[in-house]
Amino acid sequence: MSGAMLAAISGWILAVGLVTVIGWPYVLGRSFRAAGTLQVRMQPHYVLGYGLAPFAFVHAMPGMTPAAMADPLGLYLATGATLLAMVQIGVGLVLRDAHREARRAIRRCHLAVASAIVLAAGAHIVRDSVVLRMLWG
Ligand code: HEM
Ligand code: HEM
Repeated sequence: MSGAMLAAISGWILAVGLVTVIGWPYVLGRSFRAAGTLQVRMQPHYVLGYGLAPFAFVHAMPGMTPAAMADPLGLYLATGATLLAMVQIGVGLVLRDAHREARRAIRRCHLAVASAIVLAAGAHIVRDSVVLRMLWG
């Protein structure tokens, strides 16, 4: 399998992972019908959240072959999204253990970092995706 193909497959796996990690707290994390405490229900969010940045490095490796053809600004934004995903692990860990009073502010920070990741990763995808280019010419 070529580097470009691996970059494309791993890239879309990452995109689905990002949507899932963000959607989880809103869908299953808060569902009253779901069993278990919030900590238990949020477990998949934590696991995916830890995994995103390391997987982005795996994605970047085969990606380095087609990188010569990719848009440089898109790659800078991709790197920014990955660094923010690492920062987000720290913020998430603090949020998980935060007391009630501190929670609101830390949660706002966690949400702001998530938004920045989406913007940077989204711009990377728009600028660098071969699949989107094929679909929309
Ligand atoms: C949160 C992090 C990231 C996400 C969600 C992400 C997602 C994606 C997606 C969806 C694609 C499009 C695949 C296609 O249709 O061709 C892609 C392509 C690519 N990504 Fe990423 N990516 C991330 C991080 C990175 C990083 C850190 C690098 C390296 C600096 C990188 C380098 C590339 C390259 C070289 C391509 C292929 C461009 C081409 O074929 O011309 N990505 N990425
Ligand atoms: C790239 C990684 C991550 C992203 C994009 C992300 C994103 C989000 C989003 C959008 C929310 C909902 C915020 C809100 O309700 O205002 C949330 C909640 C939360 N996240 Fe993350 N997160 C990530 C990683 C992590 C990690 C690694 C941890 C902990 C180890 C974590 C812990 C939490 C906690 C405790 C909540 C609050 C749940 C609640 O009180 O309902 N997150 N995250």
